[in-house]
Amino acid sequence: MRDFEPQDQLYLGACYYPEHWPEKLWEDDYRRMTDLGLSVIRVAEFAWTIFEPQEGIFSFDLFDRAIDLAHRYGLKVVFGTPTATPPAWLTHKYPEVLNVTRDGVAYQHGQRRHYNYNAPIYRELSARIVRKLAEHYSDHPAVVGWQIDNEINCEVNVFYSQADHAAFREWLKSRYGNLEQLNAAWGAVFWNQTYTDWEQVYLTRPTPSQSPNPHQALDEKRFISDSAISYVKMQSDIIRSFAPHQFVTTNGLFGHLDSHRMAKEALDFFSYDSYPNFAAIYPDEGPDPLLDRRWGFYLSLARDVSRRFWVMEQQSGPGGWVNRMASPSPKPGQMRLWTYQSIAHGADAVLYFRWRTAPMGTEIYWHGINDYHNQPNRRVDEAGRVGREFAKLAEVAGSQFQADVALLRDYDNEWDGELDKWLGPLTKQSELSWYKALQYRHIPLEIVNVGGGVQLDDLLRFKALIYPHAAILSDRTAELLSQYVRHGGQVVFGCRSGYKDESGHCPMRPLPGPIADLCGVNVDDFTLIGTQETAPTVLLGSGAVSEAIFADRFNDVLTITADDAQILATYDGSYYAGKPALVRRPSGSGFAYYYGAAFNRESAEMLIELLDLRSPVQGILTLPPAVELCIRRQPATGEEYWFLLNYSAEEQKIEIVSRHTELMTLRELSGSVAIAPFDVLILKA
Ligand code: GLA
Repeated sequence: MRDFEPQDQLYLGACYYPEHWPEKLWEDDYRRMTDLGLSVIRVAEFAWTIFEPQEGIFSFDLFDRAIDLAHRYGLKVVFGTPTATPPAWLTHKYPEVLNVTRDGVAYQHGQRRHYNYNAPIYRELSARIVRKLAEHYSDHPAVVGWQIDNEINCEVNVFYSQADHAAFREWLKSRYGNLEQLNAAWGAVFWNQTYTDWEQVYLTRPTPSQSPNPHQALDEKRFISDSAISYVKMQSDIIRSFAPHQFVTTNGLFGHLDSHRMAKEALDFFSYDSYPNFAAIYPDEGPDPLLDRRWGFYLSLARDVSRRFWVMEQQSGPGGWVNRMASPSPKPGQMRLWTYQSIAHGADAVLYFRWRTAPMGTEIYWHGINDYHNQPNRRVDEAGRVGREFAKLAEVAGSQFQADVALLRDYDNEWDGELDKWLGPLTKQSELSWYKALQYRHIPLEIVNVGGGVQLDDLLRFKALIYPHAAILSDRTAELLSQYVRHGGQVVFGCRSGYKDESGHCPMRPLPGPIADLCGVNVDDFTLIGTQETAPTVLLGSGAVSEAIFADRFNDVLTITADDAQILATYDGSYYAGKPALVRRPSGSGFAYYYGAAFNRESAEMLIELLDLRSPVQGILTLPPAVELCIRRQPATGEEYWFLLNYSAEEQKIEIVSRHTELMTLRELSGSVAIAPFDVLILKA
């Protein structure tokens, strides 16, 4: 039994670095934090040299004092294990712990995350520092949990040190057993890549035109993920053996990492780091961009990793390193808006990154709530407003995000799609198009990783599932989706579904492979839309298309193979004009849809109509496109909270049919209501 339940109230906090500041500032910092309503700090995740200034010599004094004082102010502490930044003495003495580029160049001391997961000595020294810290802080009354490392696979997510090549060989031996199987899985007969001795086998290495064997590249990503997970699990096992009453989490959502399996095997819950102003650097393309609202998509990914989650770092100022990621200051109200974006999407805690801007180092432009000068400012005021509001939101704790529609994903296709130029770009466009189409219609969406241990019951709560481009589609997943449809669900597939096996080969069978029967289609012919071509449009069966729908990027030309398969739309253009583009087949009490192209906003809108998806507040609230709707529901009582988030710099008008209480102000709202720029309302349903 834990003394502290990470989900029993909404927590607000900050990332704090006592080692960056004169000790005389700490008390004032803690006092002001508690005045603002902050109750949690995260500390120490980069401080290894402070704990172990020389190999095997340990010192806890600085953090003992910092944490004791935090405790006196009633602050709870999440302790970071400091392994993202190995000490200089360590990398100097044991250079084999350094990560290496594919070209063979070792990363050196001077930044962070320059280590690899497989060097035995790094594992040993990591295990020792974690054990020392867990032993020392397991009984500290302020320490409620642990963050393992920091942002696993951030900065760099490929690893080519000698230790990694060696560990890869062992990983392959246990996966394939012998070289014959490995050669078969990697299609090594092609271009004479056949291996005759395990010592010849490596992670991908430089090749002409940087084109590695695609099957080897896919295994490499699986291996990197497994390496990261086993490193995290090593740390979590140690912490749990000393501190079973403190929680274990880690933060961030990065590539080449099966975060779902990591969370299941090593964490109590997952944490995400949310920086919505990255939208200013990497905006989404096309009309009506989502910009900072797109972070709801990433929060949904985090929520699928663990339904209960924390936001361990929430952007609280302008951003950037000295050399990259330059981004503007949040406008007044945006920091608060993004805090509620996290909460609306299901987070139970939000910690601002960071309490105060670092006056030195690479991150002098990643601003915290407090500026360098440490004088009052608008961001501190805004944090205080949120702190006061959180005090009124006690009843929201424990409620969960609700949606009737899910977007399906899996790691194999994500990783394979990085190299596969016929696949990867499709997924990005299709996912964002669906997200946008649903967002602007106020239809909340879940994202579900269908590659792991998902069961039929997990899917039956959804009215529709969208699986845009499942190139690698196992028989198990195909069967699961068939059962879902038989039970009354609706599933939508896009082009390029089911044409690869687990190794990334294209088996000799008609497309779309394991879902051909479910959808009642064969793919007779297919083509990429060349960069100089215009995609054909799609003609709906009724002939009435209010807006042109372009069959984007790739076209699977379909034929129907079952009497009950219904052609809903045909291509209108190119050499396959008149051939089916969208087919629906009933099964049990549900329907499977196969659409031959990548999705864009218009085709997603068309399918939303066909699937009869509606906003859960239709008829109760009328919302303009700029306002996001999120719903959290209490599982026990069914009580619902409707979060209305205005992402625009303009006031927005909404219409409320009945009367509802706004939780932060306790105002009774009905009729025409204005939401100020960047403002948030939380209505009790
Ligand atoms: C990440 C890291 C932090 C900090 C911020 C801002 O989320 O975890 O340590 O670097 O980004 O760059």
